[in-house]
Amino acid sequence: MSIIRGLTGTDEYIAQAEILLTQTVLNNKYIPFTPTPPQAVFLTLPHKDAFYGGQAGPGKSTALLMAALQFVHDKHSHALLLRRNFADLALHGALMDKAHEWLTPHPEVHWNEREHKYTFPSGATISFGYMEAERDKYRYQGADFTFIGLDEATQFFPTQFTYLFSRLRKEETTQVPCRFRAASNPGNIGHDFIKHRYIDPGSDDKPFVPASLKDNPYINYEDYSESLRELDKVTYAQLAEGCWDEPTPEGSYYAPFIEAAENEGRLTSVMYDKNLPVDTWWDLGSAKGRDSMIVGLTQAYGTEIRFIDVIAGSGEGLPYYAKLLDERGYKYRSHNAPHDIGVREIGSGKTRLETAYSLGIRFNEVPDIGVDNGIAQVRQIFNRVIFDRVKCATLIKALRNYRKEWNDAGQCWNNSPVKDWTNDYADMFRMFAVGWEDVSIKKKPPITVMTRFDARKPPAIVTSGRYSVVGGGR
Ligand SMILES: Nc1ncnc2c1ncn2[C@@H]1O[C@H](COP(=O)(O)OP(=O)(O)O)[C@@H](O)[C@H]1O
Ligand SMILES: [Mg+2]
Repeated sequence: MSIIRGLTGTDEYIAQAEILLTQTVLNNKYIPFTPTPPQAVFLTLPHKDAFYGGQAGPGKSTALLMAALQFVHDKHSHALLLRRNFADLALHGALMDKAHEWLTPHPEVHWNEREHKYTFPSGATISFGYMEAERDKYRYQGADFTFIGLDEATQFFPTQFTYLFSRLRKEETTQVPCRFRAASNPGNIGHDFIKHRYIDPGSDDKPFVPASLKDNPYINYEDYSESLRELDKVTYAQLAEGCWDEPTPEGSYYAPFIEAAENEGRLTSVMYDKNLPVDTWWDLGSAKGRDSMIVGLTQAYGTEIRFIDVIAGSGEGLPYYAKLLDERGYKYRSHNAPHDIGVREIGSGKTRLETAYSLGIRFNEVPDIGVDNGIAQVRQIFNRVIFDRVKCATLIKALRNYRKEWNDAGQCWNNSPVKDWTNDYADMFRMFAVGWEDVSIKKKPPITVMTRFDARKPPAIVTSGRYSVVGGGR
C-alpha cells in the first residue's frame, strides 16, 4: 500500500508521487506538518492546473502554503499566494500569518515587509498578494511565477482567475514544475466558474481533490461542526458538506421568478439591438461601506425588458465604468443610480453625481422606497424581464440566492436579507424595478440621449426637475 492513502494510479505513478512527496514535503525543513492524505494527493499532482476543496476546515490554506514551499531549494521557484483581500491574507491563522509562523524560526529566510515576499537562500521566493480591484491584476503583469496559489478561489471574479492563469511561466524551469493551484469552499461569486472548470468535468486534465473536515485530524471536528450548524441551510450545505450543487435556497425572495423565467424561455440569448437605446442601472456599493459596483444594462422592446449585460467590479472609480460603457459603443438613453449618489464623498468632498457629471454621465436619481416596497416592485416587473443567460449569469445566480435570514430563536424568517455577495446584484435589480417606470414612461422631463461619453464635453446643464445633475453646489 502506498504511503499516500487514497492515491490511485499505475505503480509507476504512485512510486513517483511517493518520491516527490518525500523529497519536497516530508524532508522539507520549512514544512513542519505531515500532510493529511488528501493534502498529499494534492501535493503530488503532476498537473498544471488543479483544485482542492469542498468543506471548510480540511486544511486548504495549509495545503497551498505547503505547495508553495515544495521547491524553494531551487532558485527557479517563484511562488505567488493570493487572497481576494489584503485583510484576509493577513488574518490570524490565514496564509501569511501561517507562513510567518513556519518561517520565522529560519533566520536564513529573508522577509521583505514592503513587498510581502520571502527570499530563500537559493534565491527562490514566495510572494503574498491580493486582488481586490480589477486593476490589481496588473500588479502582477511583468512577473513570472512557477506557482500561483489562490486561496478561497470562489471569491475571485472569473476574469481575475483566467488572467492569473496566464501569468504562469510558460516554460518548465529545470526541476521546478509550473503549477496553478486553487482551493476553496463552494459558494460565492466564482462558484459557477469553479464548478464548470474543475468539479463538473471530472477531467484528468484539471483534477479536483475533494477534502472533508474529517480528513483533518488536527481540528476538533465536533466543535467545528457545531459552530457550522449556526449557519443557514445553503451556507451549511456548502461549508459543512462541501455541496457544489445548488439547492434552491430556502427563504429565497426571487427563486420562483427565476424558475418561471427558465420555464418560459426568458433565460436565453439576448443580443444588443442597435435600434433600441440602452438604460443603465448602477449600484454603487461603496456608499454602503463595501467597495463594489454593479451596472446592469437594459433595452426595452414593447413591454419586454431585456437585460443584455452586467458589468461588475470593485475598487474602481466612476471613470473606469464610464470607459467600459463607452467601449461597448451602445446608444445610451439614461443612467440611473440610487438616490444617495448625491451624497458627498469623504476625501474629495464632491458628490458622485458631480464626479459623474464631469465624465459626461448624467444620473437619474432613483428614489428610495424602502427594501420591502422595492422587493414588491421587483415582483411586479419580473415577468417582463428577459435575461441574456451568459452575460447575466452571475446576476441570475444572485437573484436566485438572494434570501431572507432565518431567525433561529424565533423559528421564523427575519424580514431582512442575508448579507452576502448577492446583495449588490439584488440591490441593483431592485433599483432598476423602482426606477423603470420613470425612465420608460417619461413622466419626468425628457432625458438627453447620449451616444458616447466624452469627458471633455459635458452635456448641457439642466437645473430643474429630478433629472438635473449639476456640477455646482461647491
Ligand atoms: N497536515 C496538517 N497537520 C497539522 N495541522 C494541520 C494540517 N493541515 C491543516 N492543519 C491545521 O488545521 C487547521 C485548519 O487548516 P486550514 O488550512 O486553515 O483549513 P482551511 O483553509 O481548509 O479552512 C489549522 O489550524 C491548521 O494549522
Ligand atoms: Mg483557509
